[in-house]
Amino acid sequence: MPLQNINPTETKAWEKLVKHFNEAKEYELKELFRADKDRADKFSINLDELSVDYSKNRITQETIDLLHSLAEEVNLKDAIEKYFSGDKINVTENRAVLHTALRDSSDTPVFVDGKDVKPKIKTALRKMKTFSNKVNSGKWKGYTGKSITDVVNIGIGGSDLGPNMVVEALQFYKNKLNTHFVSNVDGDHVAEVLKKINPETTLFVIVSKTFTTQETLSNANTIRDWFLKSATVFDVAKHFVAVSTNLNAVDNFGIDKKNVFPMWDWVGGRFSLWSTVGLSICLALGFDNFKELLKGAEKMDTHFKTAEFDQNIPVILALISVWYNNFFKAETEAILPYSQYLANFPAYLQQAIMESNGKNVDRNGNEVTYQTGTIVWGSTGTNMQHAFMQLIHHGTKLIPADFIGFKNSLYKLEDHHKKLMANYKAQIEALAFGKTKEAVHLDLKINNQLDKVATLLPYKVFEGNRPSNAILFDKLTPFTLGMLIAVYEHKIFTQGVIWNIYSYDQFGVELGKELAQKNLDNE
Ligand code: F6P
Repeated sequence: MPLQNINPTETKAWEKLVKHFNEAKEYELKELFRADKDRADKFSINLDELSVDYSKNRITQETIDLLHSLAEEVNLKDAIEKYFSGDKINVTENRAVLHTALRDSSDTPVFVDGKDVKPKIKTALRKMKTFSNKVNSGKWKGYTGKSITDVVNIGIGGSDLGPNMVVEALQFYKNKLNTHFVSNVDGDHVAEVLKKINPETTLFVIVSKTFTTQETLSNANTIRDWFLKSATVFDVAKHFVAVSTNLNAVDNFGIDKKNVFPMWDWVGGRFSLWSTVGLSICLALGFDNFKELLKGAEKMDTHFKTAEFDQNIPVILALISVWYNNFFKAETEAILPYSQYLANFPAYLQQAIMESNGKNVDRNGNEVTYQTGTIVWGSTGTNMQHAFMQLIHHGTKLIPADFIGFKNSLYKLEDHHKKLMANYKAQIEALAFGKTKEAVHLDLKINNQLDKVATLLPYKVFEGNRPSNAILFDKLTPFTLGMLIAVYEHKIFTQGVIWNIYSYDQFGVELGKELAQKNLDNE
């Protein structure tokens, strides 16, 4: 069954939210905290190794209650059930959306077209395990009998961003294989990678759900030509494997059937790192760590499915984001991880969020009359404090921000970690509470600069009242990263349900592809 088709702006809750906004837009975080000493506790959700503090948002309990009613009125509960149980909610592509089944370790079957997909998933996981163990143990040999030292993932979009982000984020847990990612059709990208590798000891993983993507096929062909300068076609089987749903195209490329890892049309590219698309993750981190990643995501899936909406992390984050997007008219959201390991996380989320919810037609086929997908961007703390934070603190735009942090560091350089987390907290506090005229005045006085009050004071005042969420884990592990990614996946889903759009197609990327092909044909 498809999702229900409810225009959010025609709900009672929306009408009430519009009225409530007139008052709420004047909320001052400083005042809200002064009035309620328990506010931080009240607006926090804890889930074992994760705590989400959303108290520094321009909300009260009334806001949350009204947003909660909105979720009820658009029938989010029903939508969640359909999402997890394999209903074809991706109507425009006539597909189920089942990345959650990939990490579901229960024995409960999940049916697509009357067939349980779980056995296929189990078989694929077994194949990934056997293969990655062989490569990692050195048993898998290249054409000159040497073991594999390097893995090159060839893919783009969801066939690159997820595996690339995870391998980078979890490099602390990595084994000895060197991993490389080739995505751009810009030949300089592939050329730079080829400079670093030896054909005798490199394994190429071609990842393309469709196996028709121009960039991936161009890179794969260039790499195969390069490989064949030192080896023969009979050696391809030892060095090239593929992940795809398009078995004929893979066969035509010359890849041995045994070396094909299956993918399914009920897994969207941007949600596919949990599937065989994660083969490079599995190779780089080992199968056990890959399983931990899946377990972390499964934990978040269970939470999302079962927690009441006001205690539900993805739901609350989605609703607050709707609050800013549709009522405050905020256009962007910043993703600010305080971990250098998560440098690629904002780019990963850009595809997940913007390809999913960047839609202007509702589930009725009508143009929407309200804002949908937010623009997301960001970078790691503390580097970004010395780059764009000035605008978030002092600019004219409202930019809600997610601060992602970890209580413990991996290398236990405690002095560094203390400083990192002091900055994490300081930024959140500065955004929320700012610095008053009086405080600036006092500072100038203490520094013997009273003569500068007239010229400097207005520039040094921070008005504050700038919202953020604090998303804090104990430690970065495969498990907690799995949880974190799944939080955003379910936030995307929830927002798509509320905005009454189809989050799982991506027709907006097609026209550019067609025109590029025409340009090539006309040359
Ligand atoms: O950019 C469009 C898109 O279809 C993405 O959704 C997808 O992740 C990417 O291209 C790559 O597609 P494929 O895995 O089929 O090569």
